[in-house]
Amino acid sequence: MEDFVFENSTKAYFGKKAVSRYLPGLLEQYGPNVMLAYGGGSIKRNGIYDEVMAILKAAGKNVTEFAGILSNPTYAKVLEGAAVARKCRADLILAVGGGSVFDCCKAVSLAAVYDGDVWAGFWAKAGTIDFPTVPLGIILTVSGTGSEMNGGAVITNEDLKVKTGRDYPALNARFALLDPLYTLSVPRKQFVSGVFDSLSHMMEIYFSAPDTDNVSDSMNEALMQSVIRNLRAALRNPADYNARSNLVWLSTMAENRILKLGKKTDFQCHILEHSLGAYTDCNHGCGLSVLHPVYYRHIYKDGAAKFARFATRVWEIPAEGKSREELAKAGVEALAAFIREIGMPTTLRELGIQDKSLLKPVAAGCTASPGSYRRMDPDEIYQIFQEAF
Ligand code: NZQ
Ligand code: ZN
Repeated sequence: MEDFVFENSTKAYFGKKAVSRYLPGLLEQYGPNVMLAYGGGSIKRNGIYDEVMAILKAAGKNVTEFAGILSNPTYAKVLEGAAVARKCRADLILAVGGGSVFDCCKAVSLAAVYDGDVWAGFWAKAGTIDFPTVPLGIILTVSGTGSEMNGGAVITNEDLKVKTGRDYPALNARFALLDPLYTLSVPRKQFVSGVFDSLSHMMEIYFSAPDTDNVSDSMNEALMQSVIRNLRAALRNPADYNARSNLVWLSTMAENRILKLGKKTDFQCHILEHSLGAYTDCNHGCGLSVLHPVYYRHIYKDGAAKFARFATRVWEIPAEGKSREELAKAGVEALAAFIREIGMPTTLRELGIQDKSLLKPVAAGCTASPGSYRRMDPDEIYQIFQEAF
């Protein structure tokens, strides 16, 4: 194993009724003013809003709402939230939703106490957060990003057409309430997309140096198999609690930094998807499902031993009669077949992107991932988008 220092400061409360069991006690640790943040309104339709509001009222909190945080949260929304948090003197930001609400609220918790321009200081470049931010608590209603247990916040600057993520441990939520039952109302497309996002996070950690025997890769193979198995079970029976709850914790495990320990990571596909998202506002998991097989067809020969291992250990493809490269390619094609099996999009056109001229600026907005088995140059990145079209 490579050297590392590990800490994760988010306390996770996982399981049925997590909110009614734990939120009342947690609220006692914070002052009276709570900013309740959420998305486009699903929590009002599925009853989660009423349940959370009743607990906040019973705890005697002054609640200020910050609603309408949509997918791919924008910097403008962050600034709007920071103004609300300042005005209500928030002692706690309670973020109810998925990655978009969490990411926006992490940035709000920083922007509310910072006098400068947080985009310039913390997203355009890496900054240092050595001052207290507004405490954040999380209630998860859709899983996939793993944002509930890390300091990552992916924000879109619409003026600059840049979507960028940074992971600041100081922005980790203090607590995360994860009740898998809350996720049962997520529409099928979003559910599958979230699961694919977590598989993508696992693959992007796995396909990077070091490739010598290490704990991360072994855990990762078990987790990827678990994602595949549980997603198939959940698609057969969407009410399968065992499968649904496994998938919630799998997505947290993919991004709570444990798997990354000692690994370089290659987030090239995420870099490509984020640029695509900045221009098209496409669904994150769907963008990834289109890009992954195309990118891996470009690099599998450069990481042939690892792609061959992926084929045998994750997809259980027999090695007999195949060269290492053939086996490696079979692993990539097994992934592509799985994407078709679960009904995810396989081309940019399926994502609704009709204008091919968009691909040039999207590609130009991408950087090369330093962890890649082969560093992409701008021409090859453009070629990947053209092949994905
Ligand atoms: O907005 P509402 O009405 O609540 O509807 C949401 C939204 O439309 C809906 N939803 C959530 N819970 C529901 C529900 N619908 C019915 N029942 C429920 N229980 O789901 C939709 C998607 O929500 P969103 O939060 O956008 O999804 P997701 O969790 O996939 O987050 C995507 C964002 O996270 C970023 C992505 O780039 C994207 O901006 N990421 C964040 C990461 C991180 N911080 O670590 C890592 C990821 O790689 C990713 O980049
Ligand atoms: Zn992701």
